Amino acid sequence: MKEQNLHSSISHIILGTWAMGGNHWGTCDDADALRAIETAIDNGINTIDTAPVYGDGHAEELVGKAIRGKREKIFLATKCGLDIYTNKYQRNLSPSYIERDLAESLKRLGTDYIDLYQCHWPDPQTPIEETMSALMHFHKQGKIRYIGVSNYTLAELEAVMRCTSLFSLQSHYSLLERTVESDVLPWCRKNDVRFLSYGSLGAGILTGKYVECKRFPSGDARSFFYRFFKPRYWPRVCQLVDAMKEMALSRGVKPGVIALVWLLQQPAVTSVIVGARSAQQVQDNIPLGGVNLTDSDMRLLDHLSQKVYAKEQ
Ligand SMILES: NC(=O)c1ccc[n+]([C@@H]2O[C@H](COP(=O)([O-])OP(=O)(O)OC[C@H]3O[C@@H](n4cnc5c(N)ncnc54)[C@H](OP(=O)(O)O)[C@@H]3O)[C@@H](O)[C@H]2O)c1
Repeated sequence: MKEQNLHSSISHIILGTWAMGGNHWGTCDDADALRAIETAIDNGINTIDTAPVYGDGHAEELVGKAIRGKREKIFLATKCGLDIYTNKYQRNLSPSYIERDLAESLKRLGTDYIDLYQCHWPDPQTPIEETMSALMHFHKQGKIRYIGVSNYTLAELEAVMRCTSLFSLQSHYSLLERTVESDVLPWCRKNDVRFLSYGSLGAGILTGKYVECKRFPSGDARSFFYRFFKPRYWPRVCQLVDAMKEMALSRGVKPGVIALVWLLQQPAVTSVIVGARSAQQVQDNIPLGGVNLTDSDMRLLDHLSQKVYAKEQ
């Protein structure tokens, strides 16, 4: 790894690759996925977020293929600590597991360093000190440049900060999932820890493409991971999405862009991770430059988004 050639900054939009793994979002065509990654890079999205668990290594392999010959232009983020080898998806942030996870990710990604290495989910069985000391060891070896975590609570974040400096937290945040606003987001801002939102498009529902409350098979992430694909929320989701569509129309962008701009106008949010499975989706999500939401737009979106989970009157 040559320090002077490294890409130092993370982009405001990050391409997410969970759907490209092909195991939890229906099938995804590899050629489409590769074109999506290329389109993102060609349009200035220099940061790609992946994980071993996305397709049990498949998404990382695709990313590795797509960035061959362009590695130094990319800020590459992957994760560790969900067992894909022996104990299906069990959390494991022990030093020996991370060593194996990292070695396999490096192989699949075709690189000798990861820019941002993130603990995917907290592992209550492993003391945070042990995990962080392993990560610092790999940092000293030059295999990882920055340490990040994902899905950590405030108490877990504070424990991490007692061991090492933290580059970023990745967590679920969007107009349809605002739990982090109460404690984690203000903490990140105060402690200069970058906040990367995932689920930024509400797993697709905030693009406004669904005309009815879609049901997904039980193994699909949209039925087991995201709480808003439910008939009882649908009428209020529609009210929110209709307002977004109007705002998008007057600005000549797609409704999903409104969801991304809303996130980027939150003071603590530094980047939005946006999943895509095709070049067209990437292009639809890009035109953020110059799109601003007014105070009154922000108030309306805030109101309609809070209403989605409010108890029936
Ligand atoms: N750390 C974690 O625990 C964690 C958890 C979840 C996600 N993530 C990361 O965050 C990334 C993004 O979050 P997410 O996967 O939750 O979903 P998201 O970004 O909210 O939504 C992405 C999905 O929306 C659909 N979509 C995207 N652009 C579209 C467009 N222009 N028009 C219509 N549909 C569009 C695509 O799915 P369809 O084509 O199938 O509709 C796409 O896969 C993931 O890929 C992953 O990198 C991390």
